[in-house]
Amino acid sequence: MPEEFDVLEPGELYRLDDENRERLLVSAPLTWEWSRTLCASKSTGGMEEWAKNKGEAAEAEPLTCDWYHGTWQFLRLLNMVAVPPWYEFYSKTLRAILLERPDANVLISAAADFGMFSTLHEAISASGASPTVTLYDICQTPLRATQWYAERYGLTIECLCDNLITSPAIPTGAYDLIVTDEFLTVLKDPDKPLILERWKQFLKPGGTLVTTAMIGGVTTPELREGYAARARRLLDQNPELCELTGTDRDELIRRFDVFAARHTRHMLKDEEQIRSLFSDFDATFALTVTPGECVNPTSSYQIVAKKRD
Ligand SMILES: C[S@@+](CC[C@H](N)C(=O)[O-])C[C@H]1O[C@@H](n2cnc3c(N)ncnc32)[C@H](O)[C@@H]1O
Repeated sequence: MPEEFDVLEPGELYRLDDENRERLLVSAPLTWEWSRTLCASKSTGGMEEWAKNKGEAAEAEPLTCDWYHGTWQFLRLLNMVAVPPWYEFYSKTLRAILLERPDANVLISAAADFGMFSTLHEAISASGASPTVTLYDICQTPLRATQWYAERYGLTIECLCDNLITSPAIPTGAYDLIVTDEFLTVLKDPDKPLILERWKQFLKPGGTLVTTAMIGGVTTPELREGYAARARRLLDQNPELCELTGTDRDELIRRFDVFAARHTRHMLKDEEQIRSLFSDFDATFALTVTPGECVNPTSSYQIVAKKRD
């Protein structure tokens, strides 16, 4: 099995380009509005899953994921959340796969917004391919944001709301390519092997999974406080964001504080854990440095895993 662990030089860590920034200035307030009605409370799964089994205080209010989906793009504008453009390997890996399989059936296995579809869009344009693309997410808000992006660029994507771990409705043996960013670090440890099993079921024999997973420890209260303080400082260094998005500064800071208090990554511990998770695939892993979220910067595995024939 071709496995390797390369430590790559960080180079210049990600900077938001003008095109992405202009688009986010329009979509961030829209996504906030959508999140207020579309983010729904779920019995299991989703970005509020961390609060389950955390005791009465955490479960007292019925949580939805609006604090996550509604705030995500404002934090993207400050480069504070993990997004596909942090990882250069997506462009070249997706383009290479699409060149080989221009009519690929592609599954985006959850996304916080249109970020992954936008990365795929670039690879589609660069390869001249015409794949069929489906996005599944457990929440309607990222689906709405991705539809918005698709309409803006005249693209077609099927957006479906379902639980990727438990739903019997998602087609199996159907996809040439599955792509998702940092989904493994959203899932608690017991769910990580379950999604690996599901991805294996969704893929055609020889199909490929492309993803990333950060490594690190638990999100401590100190890290959360540091994150909230950094968000505040960055917003004050970019005060025009409030005017350009039509958002009140104090309201935005309140949202950043809630995000910092709730956003919980279940990072990968070490190389052994990742080798064990992908033991049924022919996989390559490249370690890189990213800007990081609460832990800043941090390291992440860039993963290309092929389902055996
Ligand atoms: C893919 S992850 C990380 C986001 C990523 N870094 C990005 O830029 O798109 C986040 C998404 O996972 C979704 N999610 C969490 N648990 C899920 C589940 N069991 N089934 C489907 N989607 C899920 C959440 O609703 C959220 O939109």
